Amino acid sequence: MSYQVIARKYRPQHFADVVGQEHVTQTLSNAITQNRIAHAYLFCGPRGTGKTTIARIFAKCLNCTGGPKVEFPDTDPRCQEIAEGRSLDVLEIDGASNRGIEEIRELRETVKYAPASAKFKFTSSTRFTCLPRRRSTRSSKPWKNRRRT
Ligand SMILES: Nc1ncnc2c1ncn2[C@@H]1O[C@H](COP(=O)(O)OP(=O)(O)OP(=O)(O)O)[C@@H](O)[C@H]1O
Ligand SMILES: [Mg+2]
Repeated sequence: MSYQVIARKYRPQHFADVVGQEHVTQTLSNAITQNRIAHAYLFCGPRGTGKTTIARIFAKCLNCTGGPKVEFPDTDPRCQEIAEGRSLDVLEIDGASNRGIEEIRELRETVKYAPASAKFKFTSSTRFTCLPRRRSTRSSKPWKNRRRT
């Protein structure tokens, strides 16, 4: 077997493997089993607590064969392509290094298309707060936009 870095080798692959985040994994599992999946989720917390890990597992739950399902086999080809970063429908964006107008424009262009082969189109962004804010065409001083009466 080829060498795998420790962070990838020991990264939990199922919700059951994630430690100390049961309130998150249980909420997401319930959403899947009750078929009440929201269009967006915001994970926040200190570094290295499992945000990216949980997002990747969630992507696999949604797009596994016969999904959405909380439990999926490791041998599922759809899950394998997500784990290896080969899935066309699961996109990961690093908000810290993709802050340019071009990247944001590309993201906005691609999100509107239906998934290529999976059930859901899944985009996760880390360091979301680093993404640039939309530059307002209005004045930054609100009182300047008010009509005089
Ligand atoms: N709750 C957890 N249970 C088990 N392993 C964890 C947990 N949280 C983190 N890890 C381990 O730590 C590593 C880093 O986790 P992860 O990348 O998911 O953190 P993060 O919250 O996304 O961090 P950052 O804020 O830096 O993006 C993973 O490889 C994973 O193995
Ligand atoms: Mg992360």
